[in-house]
Amino acid sequence: MPVTWILGIETSCDETSAAVVGDGSIIASNVISSQIPVHRQYGGVVPEVASRQHLERITVVVEKALQDAGIGFGDLDGIAVTVGPGLIGALLVGVAAAKAYSYYLQKPLLPVHHLEAHLYSNFLAHQDLKPPFICLVVSGGHTSLILLKKHLEYEVLGATRDDAAGEAFDKIARVLGLPYPGGPALEELASKGDPEAINFPRAWLGEDSLEFSFSGLKTAVLNYLKGREKEGISPNLPDVAAGFQAAVVEVLVEKTIKAAKQTGISDLCLAGGVAANSTLRRLFQKRAGEEGFSFYYPEKILCTDNAAMVACAGYYHYLAGHFAPLNQEACANYPLS
Ligand code: KG4
Ligand code: ZN
Repeated sequence: MPVTWILGIETSCDETSAAVVGDGSIIASNVISSQIPVHRQYGGVVPEVASRQHLERITVVVEKALQDAGIGFGDLDGIAVTVGPGLIGALLVGVAAAKAYSYYLQKPLLPVHHLEAHLYSNFLAHQDLKPPFICLVVSGGHTSLILLKKHLEYEVLGATRDDAAGEAFDKIARVLGLPYPGGPALEELASKGDPEAINFPRAWLGEDSLEFSFSGLKTAVLNYLKGREKEGISPNLPDVAAGFQAAVVEVLVEKTIKAAKQTGISDLCLAGGVAANSTLRRLFQKRAGEEGFSFYYPEKILCTDNAAMVACAGYYHYLAGHFAPLNQEACANYPLS
C-alpha cells in the first residue's frame, strides 16, 4: 500500500508550523518557526503581531517542510489545517494558505480542531495506542479532559471554569518576574524550590467534579506575595514557584485518575504545552502506575504547538472522508464536537 502523505499547517497562536506526516504516524518533517523572541518583549502574545509574523513565514515554512521530507507538492494526498480555536487573525493565515494549496494541488482540505490535534500527538508517539482513552489536554488556552471513544469521536468530560493551566503558569510567572512563555521559566525556578514549603489551595470543586479552576490559586499566590511584602519579608521565589506548580499538577493528575475511575477507561494520555512539564509527567506516571492504568505522553517537541500533530489528526479526517469546502472559515471559538 502506498503511504498517504498529509501536509499539516498550524498557525493558531505564536508558532508558524508545517509538517509532512505519512499514514498518520511517520513524521517526515516538522518545521516549527517560533515567534517567542518577537512576543517576549511585550510579555505575551500580541495577536496582530502574530498574524503578521505568520504571514511573513508561512510559505517559507511549508516549502521547508516539503524539502526536509524530500517530498514534492504532487506527492501530497491532503492538506490539514488548524481551523480553530485560536487567535482569529493567526488562524486566518494558516487556513487561507491551506485553501490555496488545496485548490492549486486539487487535494482535499482537512479541517482540524486544535485540541484534537494535541490529543492526536499521542498517536505520533505511540503506534500501539488505540481508542478508547482519556486525554488531559493542558495548554495556554485549554484545560480539558477528553474521552476519545473512537477515532474523531469525542466526549468532553471536564474543562476549566476560568483560566487554563498554561495561562495560570504564564500569569504567575509574570508576577514572579519571569520571561514569556512563563511555563518553562516557572518550571526551571520551581526546580530550585521546596514544593511543600508553602501549601497553596487545591480547587477540587466537589468530590465527583471533573472541572478545573485555577483563579483561586492565582489569587492565593498573589495574596501570599502581598502579605510578605507588607511584613517586609522578601519571599522565597523558588518555593513560591514550586508550591504553585505542585498545586496545579496535583489537581490535574488526580482529576484525570478520577475520570478513569468514573468511566472505567484505563488508558490515559497527556497532551498540550503544559504536558512538557516534567513534574506533571512524573506525578502522572507515578499515580497511573499505582492505580494500574497505562499512561502515554508525547515527547516534549510534540506537546507544544506543532504541525505534525495537525497532519496526524488530518490523516484520520482523510480516512473518514471529512473534506472541507474551499469556503471553510477560520473559527476562534470552534467547538470540538
Ligand atoms: O499548546 P501550546 O504550545 O499552545 C496553546 O495551545 O496554548 O501551550 C503553550 C502553553 C503556555 O501557557 C506555556 O507556558 C505552557 O504551555 N508550557 C508549560 C511548559 N512548557 C510550555 N507549562 C508548564 N511547564 C512547562 N514546561
Ligand atoms: Zn496548543
